[in-house]
Amino acid sequence: MSSSVVDVSEEDNVVKDKFAEIYVMLRDHGDENGVPVFSQKDWKFVVDNYDKKKVIEVLAHYIINNKPIFPLRKIEHKNMKNSFDKLWKRDIVSLKVVRRGGDDGWEDGKDYTIKLKYDYDCTSSGVGEKCLYMIQLGHEYNDASSYFQQENRLKCNSYGYKGPLNAWVDLTELKKMNWTFWRPSMVGKNGIRSRDYRSSMRVSGYVATQFKPHVAKCIYEMNNAERILDTSCGWGDRLVAFYCTEGAKVYYGCDPNENVYEDYKKQCIEYEKLLGTKEEDIKIVDGVWVGIDEVIDDGDKCLGSKGCSYFECKGKKHVRIYNGCAEDIILGNGGFGNGGDAAGGDFDLLFTSPPYFKTEMYNEGGDGEDLQSWKRYDTFEKWRDKFLYKMIQNVEESLKVGGKIMLNIVDPQIKTKRYRVCDHLVDFVTGLGFTYDGWILQRMKGGPAKKGLSGVNWYGEPIFSFTKD
Ligand SMILES: C[S@@+](CC[C@H](N)C(=O)[O-])C[C@H]1O[C@@H](n2cnc3c(N)ncnc32)[C@H](O)[C@@H]1O
Repeated sequence: MSSSVVDVSEEDNVVKDKFAEIYVMLRDHGDENGVPVFSQKDWKFVVDNYDKKKVIEVLAHYIINNKPIFPLRKIEHKNMKNSFDKLWKRDIVSLKVVRRGGDDGWEDGKDYTIKLKYDYDCTSSGVGEKCLYMIQLGHEYNDASSYFQQENRLKCNSYGYKGPLNAWVDLTELKKMNWTFWRPSMVGKNGIRSRDYRSSMRVSGYVATQFKPHVAKCIYEMNNAERILDTSCGWGDRLVAFYCTEGAKVYYGCDPNENVYEDYKKQCIEYEKLLGTKEEDIKIVDGVWVGIDEVIDDGDKCLGSKGCSYFECKGKKHVRIYNGCAEDIILGNGGFGNGGDAAGGDFDLLFTSPPYFKTEMYNEGGDGEDLQSWKRYDTFEKWRDKFLYKMIQNVEESLKVGGKIMLNIVDPQIKTKRYRVCDHLVDFVTGLGFTYDGWILQRMKGGPAKKGLSGVNWYGEPIFSFTKD
C-alpha cells in the first residue's frame, strides 16, 4: 500500500470519527422529544472544538435519522382561552388605534415617521397622502387562533424556502440552514433551547406570519361592521376577531386549503362555547356548494370550486365558510338555491389579506393544491385578473351601498422582482364604482422601527379602504 493511500484513508477515518463524535453528542443532549439542547457551557465546548459547517451537517443527519419532534410553541387550552378573553373584553380600539387629530396632526400629538416597504402613488399623493389611522403592534392575542392553526401555518412554504415543519423532514433544507446558534448571545449566555430552533428558522428559513387578530377587531369596530366577508380566511385570525367583536354578527368566508378549513369548524365551536353558548345550542350544518353556471375559459383544466364543502355554525353568531376559491364563489349569494339563507347585497365589509401572488405557497403538495391561486395562475397578470380582480367583482355583488372593501395587500416581491399591483388595484376598484377612502397602517416589526416598539418611527403594511357608492 502506498503511503499516500494510507494518508487518505486515515483522513477519512478522522472525518468519520468527527461525524460520529458530533452525532453522539447531539443524541446525548436530546430533550424529551429528542431535540438537542445544550447548556451554555456544553454549547461553548462544541463551538470551540468543532467546525461549524460540520456540526450543521451532522445536525441535519441527526434530525432526519432520529426524527426528534419539531419544537412547536406549546399552546395549552388555557392560553387560548386567556388570549380569547382578552381580545373579547379589552377596548382594543382605545388601546391600539392611533387616530388623526385636528390640524392634520395625530391625536396624541406625536410627529410620526411612517415607512412602507414600497412607496405607492395611492399612499403618497392626493387622497392617499395621509393614512387614515394606524394600528399598533401586538402579539398578545395570537394564541387564540394559533392554538388551532399553528401546524398548518408552519407547513406553509414560500417561494424559495420550505416552512419549518417541511424543512424539518428534508435533509437538503436542513443542511442549508444557517442556524443562529453561533451568535454570541447563545454561545456566551443561553446555550441552545428547543425554542431556539423555531426562532432560528424564522431568521435563516421562512415562517409564514399570523395576521394579528387585534388588527381585524380594530377594523371591524372602526367600521361598525355587522355582516362581514373574508375571501381568504387564512390562519383563522380574522375569524377569531369576529367572535371577539360584540357588534359583529355574520361572517362568510372561503379558503381552498382543506387543512385550515377543517380547523375553522373546531374554532367556531370552541369560540361559541367561550362566549357562553351551550353545546346543544350550537347548530352545525355541512353542505356541498353546487356551483354557479360559469363558462370555463379554453385551456383552463381546473373545474374550480364546484362541489366544494361548506359548513355553517350558528350559535350566538353566524358563520359560513366554503372550502373553495374566492374567484369562483359569490359569498352571500351562495345561499340562493343552496338551502341556506340568501344574504346577497347586504354585507357591510369585506376585510381580507389575500395571497400575494406566489410569495407563499399554501398547501403545496396537498389535495387542494390546484385550487391555490399561486398554482392556478402561472403568470402575475393572470393571478391579478383572474383571481384578485374576479374576487373583488364577486364581493361587489354581496356588499350593500355604503359597504366597504378593505384589503391588506402589498406589491409582491419574488426574488428581486417587484410586481406592481396596489396602484393598479386602486384604479380597478374605483372603476367598479367605489370611492377610494385612503389607507390604514398596520404596524409591523422591521424597517426603521426595528430598534423598539415605542417611538415615532413606524413601519408596516397598508390596508386599502374603499366605499361602495
Ligand atoms: C394566509 S392568507 C394571506 C397571508 C398574506 N397576505 C401573505 O400572502 O403573506 C392567504 C390564504 O389565501 C388562500 N388562498 C389561496 N388561493 C385562494 C383562492 N383562490 N381563493 C381564496 N383564498 C385563496 C390560502 O389558502 C391562504 O390560506
